[in-house]
Order: sequence, then structure tokens, then C-alpha cells
Amino acid sequence: MKIMSGNSNLPLARAIAGYLELPLTDASVRRFADEEIFVEIHENVRGEDVFIVQPTSYPANDNLMELLICIDALRRASAKRITAVVPYFGYARQDRKPGPRTPISAKLVANLITEAGADRVLSADLHAGQIQGFFDIPTDNLYAAPVMAADIQARYGDQSLMVVSPDVGGVVRARALAKRLDNAPLAIVDKRRDKPGQSEVMNIIGDVKGRACILIDDIIDSGGTLCNAAQALMDAGAVSVTAYITHGVLSGAAVSRVNNSALKELVITDSILATDATKNSDRIRVLTIAPLIGEAIRRIADESSVSSLFD
Ligand code: R5P
Repeated sequence: MKIMSGNSNLPLARAIAGYLELPLTDASVRRFADEEIFVEIHENVRGEDVFIVQPTSYPANDNLMELLICIDALRRASAKRITAVVPYFGYARQDRKPGPRTPISAKLVANLITEAGADRVLSADLHAGQIQGFFDIPTDNLYAAPVMAADIQARYGDQSLMVVSPDVGGVVRARALAKRLDNAPLAIVDKRRDKPGQSEVMNIIGDVKGRACILIDDIIDSGGTLCNAAQALMDAGAVSVTAYITHGVLSGAAVSRVNNSALKELVITDSILATDATKNSDRIRVLTIAPLIGEAIRRIADESSVSSLFD
């Protein structure tokens, strides 16, 4: 087995390789003067089971193109099996047509990865589970929930917890986390805008008064969804609101929005490389999912069960 990395999240790739007690495959991913990507693998990979680690986070298009070119290089170097390890799958939010004459870009990206030559895909907390169906090759979708649940138990286990989904679409994810937290009760933030141009009304379904709320979601991007939900929960009488989000996309002014929000703490994973602003925020903490991904890779290579990681 070999672990290779693109430039998107080298620390994560190194940590995964460290967990597996393997060196990273010697390769260089460089740019021509016009920003074309050039990949060179400096060791033999013929007949190898290769895992290429490359989340397609910001800059999404460059990182995606790097992934595709790495896969192409591996295929032409006669790797036996190529697994695209994409902990954060960019474009996942474009998984359906929100209106006429719009693309389904998540499907297009799935086609590109497959056509480049990937034999399998390993991802984490896909925005929607059915994105796995966009691939006609095997996919494994890992969940950060066990890592989050262990952290929540250690830090907030002595409090009266309530798991909260920030929107109706996230209820399944929130329920799964609540189950891991000794069946903690569940609340839902229902965001409504009655007419275009009118401000949003956050209705809370469930009684959060006196509760330490744990907001859970797959992505924090601008931070709007989460910071508004946190304020609404505090207004409804929560004692504190902590957010556990798998993918810290954190675009634009998101970090400062979080720093100035009602959130006690935002906990993300290292599926996306943290920016300096994220690292410098005393309101944001990063949990690693490298051992989880490493163990999944070991099991894929050994052809043993991956789903039993979540039993
Ligand atoms: C949406 O369905 C996702 O699960 C997230 O809630 C959303 O992407 C967060 O975006 P933002 O942080 O920009 O509100």
C-alpha cells in the first residue's frame, strides 16, 4: 500500500501516513509559469494499492485539478488500484438542480474523478449520502461523529445536553450524534423567510431552556447558518451553544463572525487545512480525523469491514 498526497492538506496526509507507519510516496506536484499543474512520481508504484489524499477545499478548482492529474499519473504508472481519499468533497452542495437550467456539479465532479482513473473513493461526512450514488465505483463515506461524541462526552458530559440540527435537512445527522450521547434529546432550528426581503425567523422546535446545546452540521462556510442559530438558541434560554462541524470551509469573514458570535466554541476537524485565522482564533478548536481515515484505509487495503468502525 502507498499513501500519496497533493498540496491541499499535507499535514493530514502526513498524519494518516504516520498512523499507518508508512512514508508518504515521493512525488512532486508543481506549477508551470502559467499555473498548469505538473505531477511527477519519483518512485515505482507499479502494481501498488495507492491512496491519494486530496480534499477539494479552497481553492476548490485547483485542488480538484491536482487530484485528477495525480490520479492520471498513478494510472499511467500502472498502480494496481487507486483510491481517491477526498475527506472534504468540494462541489457536494450542488447535488441537485435548485432551479431550471442549473448544473448538478457534484455529479460532474464524480464523473471527472472516475474518468481520471480512480477505482474507489473515500470521503467523510458527504453533504448528502446519496452523492455516493453519483459514482459507479465503490465509495466509503466516513463519519466524524464518533470522534465528536468522544470529545463532547469528555468536555460537556456532565451537563444537561441537547443536540441541535441547524436546519431541517440535518436532522438525520443530529439524531445519529444524539444516539451516541446516551440518547440526548434533539431540537431543530427551523429557518423561515416568509417573503423575499423579509428578515429570517428562527423557530426552535424543542425546549432548549437550561440546556447546553450542541449544534451539529457537515459544513460551516460563511458561518451565517450557525451564528444565527446560536443566537436564536441563546435567546430561547440555552445556557451555552457549542458547534461541532466536520468541514471548516470558513470562507471570507467567517472566522471573525464566529469570534463575535454567541457560540461558546466551534469545533471542526482537520478534513480541510486550517488557515492562520482559524488557528489564531481562541473560539475554534480542531479535532483530527487522521486516525479514522488511516484505519479506514488499512481496512480497505486488507479488504475488511469499514462500516464496523461506526458500530
Ligand atoms: C447546508 O445545507 C450545509 O449543511 C451548511 O449548513 C451550510 O453549507 C453552511 O453554510 P454557511 O456557513 O455559509 O451558512
